[in-house]
Amino acid sequence: MKHLYSNLVMGLALILLILPGQADTTQSYLLRSPDNSLDVQLEVRPEGVFYSLNYQHRSVVKPSRLGLKLKGQEPLAGALKVDKHSEQEVNQQWQQPWGEQQTISEHYRELRLELSETSAKPRRLYLVMRAFNDGIGLRYELPDQPHLKNFVIEDELTEFVLAENSHTWWLPAYRNWGPEYQYLKSALSSVDVAFTPITLEARHYALAIHEAALVNYASMTLRLQGDNSKTLKVDLVPWPNGDKVRTSTPMKSPWRSIQIAPKAIDLLNSHLTLNLNEAPTPEALANTERYLKPGKYMGIWWEMHIGEKDWSPGPKQGATTARAKQYIDFAAQHDISGLLIEGWNKGWEGEWWQRPPTFIFDQPVDGLNLEEVVRYGKEKGVAIIGHHETAAGVTYYEQQMESAFGYYQKLGIHSVKMGYVGKRIDGDQWHHGQYMVNHFQRLVDTAARHQVMVNAHETVTDTGLRRTYPNLMTRECVRGMEYNGGSPDSGNLPDHTTIIPFTRGLSGPIDFTPGIFNFDYQKYRPNNRVPSTLANQLALYVVIYSPLQMVADLPENYAGHPAFQFIDDVPTDWRESRALQGEIGEYLVVARQDKNSADWYLGAITNQKARALSVKLDFLQPDADYEAQIYRDGKDADWETNPESYEIVRLRVNVKTQLQLDLKPGGGTAIRLKKR
Ligand code: NOJ
Ligand code: CA
Repeated sequence: MKHLYSNLVMGLALILLILPGQADTTQSYLLRSPDNSLDVQLEVRPEGVFYSLNYQHRSVVKPSRLGLKLKGQEPLAGALKVDKHSEQEVNQQWQQPWGEQQTISEHYRELRLELSETSAKPRRLYLVMRAFNDGIGLRYELPDQPHLKNFVIEDELTEFVLAENSHTWWLPAYRNWGPEYQYLKSALSSVDVAFTPITLEARHYALAIHEAALVNYASMTLRLQGDNSKTLKVDLVPWPNGDKVRTSTPMKSPWRSIQIAPKAIDLLNSHLTLNLNEAPTPEALANTERYLKPGKYMGIWWEMHIGEKDWSPGPKQGATTARAKQYIDFAAQHDISGLLIEGWNKGWEGEWWQRPPTFIFDQPVDGLNLEEVVRYGKEKGVAIIGHHETAAGVTYYEQQMESAFGYYQKLGIHSVKMGYVGKRIDGDQWHHGQYMVNHFQRLVDTAARHQVMVNAHETVTDTGLRRTYPNLMTRECVRGMEYNGGSPDSGNLPDHTTIIPFTRGLSGPIDFTPGIFNFDYQKYRPNNRVPSTLANQLALYVVIYSPLQMVADLPENYAGHPAFQFIDDVPTDWRESRALQGEIGEYLVVARQDKNSADWYLGAITNQKARALSVKLDFLQPDADYEAQIYRDGKDADWETNPESYEIVRLRVNVKTQLQLDLKPGGGTAIRLKKR
């Protein structure tokens, strides 16, 4: 990864304030963003450490407590003095090996406060605050020290005392199946306990609270507390006995981050979460150009979700050699580089999600000759994607993990989807606690050693670790397309895809699995629908970012379909991405430029409401002409009554063009802008 330029400027960011009359008791520090649009104040008071945030001269976060409560010890939060403070400014650009944006600007000012207690056996706590133009990050560091070795974090005291009772988009935490639910919209004062990212729309700004670089710690959820109904407090996902984090010095917490922008749409153009993660080591990058390959993949998958086939061996078995070859034949004729085969291995009999796992990760099921399928795929240029369903049995999986990846490596498989279906991990652990965070890290490391790209379902929510571990390609951690197939409660609502880019999407790539063309599967699932039009399905390839993007429907449903050309053409690795317009839960327009050509792609989606949008193509290269290949809703298209109605039109456009888009209920428009 090449640093184009890097510069450190000392002494710019910090103003030390000694408050009148309190010089000996309160020390206050001010840190401004490089463009001075936001500032953070840190106060070390006798009763504890507090921070507050202003944005464009408005109070956004009022003084909010920081600190940690350690099991069997006094809270590490009050009676602290400042031993040392230092500051730096970093301004650099870095390159992603793959991604939604090739070059990322990283510009921030940092303040580091080294604190220690005033007691006889003082413990030491460092606070690091970074101010970017698009938000802040804050983390705790506990250095190596004589009076603190092994310890348990019982509670993290970090608060976000918000200034306004804003509209909040949130997902309740601590439910079975993790975050696989529809988002809720309510006043902040009606939030209970929420996963992050949580997205808030205030009158003059929008913000999202999340975390970055979650390693050897528990995921953060946010619980509404206090009398003012505007305070969110960190609530770390616990171990079964209530411990939050079991750790030792030296350690660093994940970053607590607040992304902030004038409007929600601008949050989508921020790279704060990635920027708060470490650059990869040279070892992490070794050989990656050989096996990190963004691309589109099909799967023996949707036919199981709609009930036509089954994961279990027997008469409805989906994973067979013959079926895999049919998929490979189709993929080979198109720009589809991978085939996932679920149910490929032994152990899927019956209700596998209801019992302790029985999967064997190096033995194909009878009826599937995996070696032959891999060979056939190789001959045709289609790579097989491995699958590890664990049924949330992590201990069981870890016993086989090494041999499972060794088996795939021997077969030349460089991409694996894994999943953790189950109410709890190993019977009593949450999917987002430290136990799972640590397992997932071991998994990512094991995969990297075996040169494997990771696509994980039902795992810990992303915190930007793909910067540090580039084989961590994508994850689910959302209510995906699968719910429109087999969900007993009839699937997603049409506004769902207009919410998730503004919420879950802020954390990283989403394996949402778009691309359904056949809306008529009521024979198997009378209560389920894909709540969109066909043109909306196409637009999702641009709107929802994932470097591994599924082409989710069956090959029969694509064969000879003119609209499939868009899926064939759309890339999954981008030079540049721009969210252009949108409102949470209403509509969204995103444009992205192909990393490997001068072409741009545009996706626009709406919720259940029809709407007309006017989009400026001012991102195009000036002095160039483009052919806009437009896939749009037909005049009578409607997700409920006529989802398959669409039309393809071609227009000559350039940088001055203002395109008028006409989206029908649940509809969309997908455009390839091909440079002429
Ligand atoms: C849940 C995953 O999200 C889905 O994609 C997969 O098909 C099933 N688990 C079975 O592993
Ligand atoms: Ca899932």
